[in-house]
Amino acid sequence: MKVLLTGASGQLGQALIASCPPGVELIALRRQDLDLADAEACRRVVAQHRPAWLLNAGAYTAVDRAESEPELAHAVNAAAPQAFAEALADQGGRLLQISTDFVFSGQQGSPYRPDQTPEPLGVYGATKAAGEAAALRLPGSIVLRTSWVYGPVGSNFCRTMLRLMGEREQLGVVADQVGCPTSTITLAEACWRALHVEGSRFLHWSDAGAASWYDFAVAIAELSQALGLLASPARIQPITTADYPTPARRPGYSLLDCTATRALLDLEPLHWRSALTQVLRRIASLEASPSF
Ligand SMILES: NC(=O)c1ccc[n+]([C@@H]2O[C@H](COP(=O)([O-])OP(=O)(O)OC[C@H]3O[C@@H](n4cnc5c(N)ncnc54)[C@H](OP(=O)(O)O)[C@@H]3O)[C@@H](O)[C@H]2O)c1
Repeated sequence: MKVLLTGASGQLGQALIASCPPGVELIALRRQDLDLADAEACRRVVAQHRPAWLLNAGAYTAVDRAESEPELAHAVNAAAPQAFAEALADQGGRLLQISTDFVFSGQQGSPYRPDQTPEPLGVYGATKAAGEAAALRLPGSIVLRTSWVYGPVGSNFCRTMLRLMGEREQLGVVADQVGCPTSTITLAEACWRALHVEGSRFLHWSDAGAASWYDFAVAIAELSQALGLLASPARIQPITTADYPTPARRPGYSLLDCTATRALLDLEPLHWRSALTQVLRRIASLEASPSF
């Protein structure tokens, strides 16, 4: 099965490459191979490779910067999946579009089901919602929404916290936004399984449990100290969203209801704390390797 992957240098892209199942011919595209802001190039690459699946893990993910670069965010997050969907409709092949809990406002106070209508608060969420709609115009497309993604490589909250906790004595972390951290290791497994799902649908995948960013940071500090990654981590103070103003508004409660997807993929999630332990162990082994 030929799979074309975008965003190959991103944190999910790298996890997908590392976990590519046998029998998959993976063509992994980085930014230098394909500019997702170039819709014509997106169409051309599909015609060139004629994949059975296009796994679109590339995205404009800078949530705050998107507020001042809405055209670029739209080109990458909405126009690219539209171009992929159109080209796949011509050539044959299906699209797995990765999306986000940030398509929701976070105001309902209970986990979001896959069939709920997006109501994004910011440019990033709005462009991702437009990308979902464009992807689903292709029959057989799957949109997989996930949340708070982090992993052993790339740019993410966990790695930023590890750095800051080593540099500072005290850190304030937002305690009034609740969601679920999701490891790229478990997310990649869910993505590969999603390629066996029939028909067109929304899937929701995150690790199990719920946390605020503050809870997540405290767990990173505790577990990284226990694993010897940090000698004496910074003290972490809970702060509010109002204490830490950002250009983009973020959902206050963006848990995803993953019940149906877990059954469909026949995949039991790890609790986010167990998944975090797995990621921190991987970071420790990467740091111990001679090429680090
Ligand atoms: N990160 C999260 O917390 C989170 C949460 C929910 C959903 N998601 C979704 O999960 C998916 C994977 O995200 P991620 O966390 O792996 O993000 P990431 O690490 O930021 O990776 C995104 C990738 O997209 C590439 N990219 C951006 N603009 C591009 C362009 N114009 N042309 C070509 N490539 C471009 C980046 O290339 P460079 O490496 O060259 O910059 C990067 O490899 C995305 O769909 C994202 O929306 C992420």
